[in-house]
Amino acid sequence: MKQKILVTGGTGYIGSHTVVELQAAGYEVVIIDNLSNSNVEVLDGIEKISGIRPYFKELDCNDKAGLSLLLKEHPGIKGIIHFAASKAVGESVQMPLPYYRNNIVTLLNLLELMPEAGIKGIVFSSSCTVYGQPDVLPVTEDAPVKPALSPYGNTKQINEEIIRDTIYAGVPFKSIILRYFNPIGAHPSAEIGELPNGVPQNLIPFLTQTAIGIRKELSVFGDDYDTVDGSCVRDYINVVDLAKAHVIAMDRMLSDKSDDKLEVFNLGTGRGVTVLELINAFEKSTGVKVPHKIVGRREGDIEKVWANPEHANKVLGWTAKETVEDTLVTAWNWQKRLREKGIQ
Ligand code: WQD
Repeated sequence: MKQKILVTGGTGYIGSHTVVELQAAGYEVVIIDNLSNSNVEVLDGIEKISGIRPYFKELDCNDKAGLSLLLKEHPGIKGIIHFAASKAVGESVQMPLPYYRNNIVTLLNLLELMPEAGIKGIVFSSSCTVYGQPDVLPVTEDAPVKPALSPYGNTKQINEEIIRDTIYAGVPFKSIILRYFNPIGAHPSAEIGELPNGVPQNLIPFLTQTAIGIRKELSVFGDDYDTVDGSCVRDYINVVDLAKAHVIAMDRMLSDKSDDKLEVFNLGTGRGVTVLELINAFEKSTGVKVPHKIVGRREGDIEKVWANPEHANKVLGWTAKETVEDTLVTAWNWQKRLREKGIQ
């Protein structure tokens, strides 16, 4: 009997890649998504890769009654992976209240409904932004959580505290918190990838849209940081490597491999790359030039962050395998596929 997993935000970028890996691992997947930053056609891509079309319901996790009904319709759900959230640093600075409402209320609804639904655990999609600008790099899970530099980062910190307090209050479920660094790239089949609605906020979709001619020029937000070339440093992790870590985390939780009711893992490569180095790596690995210019800093950006992934490597037995260069090629192949499909 396949174990059933609820994936919120499952038609999104990381969610869809995780659904594919969950299916490959033998899980049955139920997706809910409000389609605010994704398209229902993603289900076609998932089905093309796995041969299995996951159950999908358009549902906003802010709708607690709707969530409760869904969980009653699917009594066999044993685990949840919660991706559904607003996720753009810059945008959150411009419009904090919708970020606080969406990113916090959705989690509260899920946690309140889990005991009654008999769900054993929740994997939570967190972010390295909870560290703010770390004092020590590479950053480990026990690094002090510093004041977030954006409302988005603050919602992730608050989410983690809510989960921690709830678990310690003795609820009958576990949680694994996964702190992503910067997910990039697309599935090697180019059937799914990153496709934000509107103007991309994240670097790679804007970069590939510039490379293919949709955008005129990529703006590099600052080159006056204390880094090797003045542009910000991030730890860019292949989205499929990241998705695989979620399956390992779910297996770990549902098989009670650990006595800990709450665990936290950094998911990164351990390698820091600057924005300008990334542009150069893209141009070298694809042969395609990216018109770009240096502009002012973006509010809310931190200067440099990259992971110490040893805890995940050792405890989960998981390591990021794909290089940034190979990952950038998958992002470019996806952008070209979108052009072929007339989507962009
Ligand atoms: C990366 C770098 C920008 C766009 C956030 C979240 C993280 C994750 C990814 C969800 C920064 C620079 C960007 C552009 C640029 N969210 N940049 N020009 O802000 O590091 O991380 O998104 O999974 O949790 O914190 O990602 O891609 O926006 O920016 O120069 O047009 O690229 O300044 O240095 P970020 P990003």
